[in-house]
Amino acid sequence: MRPSACYITAEFAPYVKVGGLGDVSAALAGILHGRGHDIRPFLPLYDDLDRKGLAIEPIAPLADLEIAMGPHRYRYSVLRGRQQHGGPDLYLVDCPALYGRKGIYGNAADEHLRFLALTRIALESCQRLGFAPRIVHCHDWHTALAPLYLRTIYAWDRLFEHTRTVLTIHNLGYQGVLPWDWVEGLGLGDAARELDAGERAEGRVNLLREGLKHADSVNTVSPGYAREICTPALGMGLDAVLRGRHDSVSGILNGVDHEAWDPATDPMLPAHFEAGDLSGKARMRTALADRLGLDAPAGTPLVGMVSRLNWQKGIDLTESVLPTLLGRGTIRLAVLGNGEARYEQFFDSLARDFPGRASFTRGYSEELSHWIEAGADAFLMPSRYEPCGLNQMYSLRYGTVPIVRRTGGLADSVEHFDPASGTGTGIVFNDPDPPAVRWALDTMIDWFRSPAAWRRLQLNGMQQDFSWERSADAYEALYRRTRRHGGKSKSG
Ligand code: ADP
Ligand code: GLC
Repeated sequence: MRPSACYITAEFAPYVKVGGLGDVSAALAGILHGRGHDIRPFLPLYDDLDRKGLAIEPIAPLADLEIAMGPHRYRYSVLRGRQQHGGPDLYLVDCPALYGRKGIYGNAADEHLRFLALTRIALESCQRLGFAPRIVHCHDWHTALAPLYLRTIYAWDRLFEHTRTVLTIHNLGYQGVLPWDWVEGLGLGDAARELDAGERAEGRVNLLREGLKHADSVNTVSPGYAREICTPALGMGLDAVLRGRHDSVSGILNGVDHEAWDPATDPMLPAHFEAGDLSGKARMRTALADRLGLDAPAGTPLVGMVSRLNWQKGIDLTESVLPTLLGRGTIRLAVLGNGEARYEQFFDSLARDFPGRASFTRGYSEELSHWIEAGADAFLMPSRYEPCGLNQMYSLRYGTVPIVRRTGGLADSVEHFDPASGTGTGIVFNDPDPPAVRWALDTMIDWFRSPAAWRRLQLNGMQQDFSWERSADAYEALYRRTRRHGGKSKSG
């Protein structure tokens, strides 16, 4: 029988992307579809969803319906989005009361309802379509209640008799924590008594915890992060529930979408290159520097950053380091990002204090992110924690040397370079503190002065293979295991 999955996610690139979740949801669904899975991604039809490349049409049995969640009632339709460049059809939940507003995420009081409604509408759409998915695959806190919904309010429906659930953790830092008083609005009815008693005693509901308790299988996006989240240091209060599961939490490293991120063909770039001929990279460096108003002497490394600007990304660790190096003129800096005001102000001040040496583009630009990956010499990711991280893998592919902290997926995908043996792909530092960032940048500057070592480092990175094929094999195995044994290993 053809494997089937109802796949529920808050982001799906290129139509809606805030961070890596968008890239990863889309790439994984695309490759599984290509391998013959009947995979049906459900996501909100946000006002800000970019409809370019989508042919949107109604689905007769899913038009003009109502979902009731406790006292809340929402009218919605689900529309089909045919992807013109291929891939699975998308199921777009059109519910103006919940998604008809600016931005993808927000702070409104109904934020959780937006995603709980998505989750329930996805399951009810399966019912109306008579689609019996073997797997319901949910991602992060937004859709983490699906396993509990299936075990309680939809347990009566034989359609889901063979359905098993997979929850992928992309980031444990966001858990969907609500005051207990809001419980009525979760649409669980009497089944609310299944909610975690410990959280209840604290006056809370934690949506991600419910997912971790009730999903048949749980995985995360790198083997390193899978180990780290089972420890108090990075478990963010959920390590005990993770350790207490009957199975182990598997770690499957994300892949890189080679169509979107290939320096030889990247449609966003004016110049192209490959490992055998890096002259196009030199042209991209000049083009990037011109575009951003940087003077970029050939002997001075141009460092790129593209990031959500928040605590996770360790931006504050650079605050005492970057001004010194820019003041000495030993690096140039090109930053693209947005997020917390204090970090935006920090980069604004660098651009102001070091004109020609530092540039900050506040906001989101897919195109500029490709230019920075292609044109920079090195790429800085000083994350405090990083479930996987994608930019270090894009950097490796683009001959841009990653400078990363030894954590999560960064540690799994970048190996510290050893100039003596010529092995390794980047610069990896241990501690989340400014001296370690300083050491890493000094090391990079040092190696950059040696063209032979630098070339070796670039080429080592460009030879890495982070294609989705391997990760997709691992997800297929996880789906199989979950279908056969409900996530338990044979012995467990
Ligand atoms: P996270 O999901 O935690 O933000 P990842 O490294 O997994 O981190 O993925 C981030 C993705 O979002 C990458 O594709 C990166 O290029 C992109 N990105 C982040 N900020 C911006 C921005 N300001 N403009 C364009 N792309 C961005
Ligand atoms: C999260 C993580 C990031 C990961 C991405 C996709 O946003 O912060 O490390 O790469 O999800 O899985």
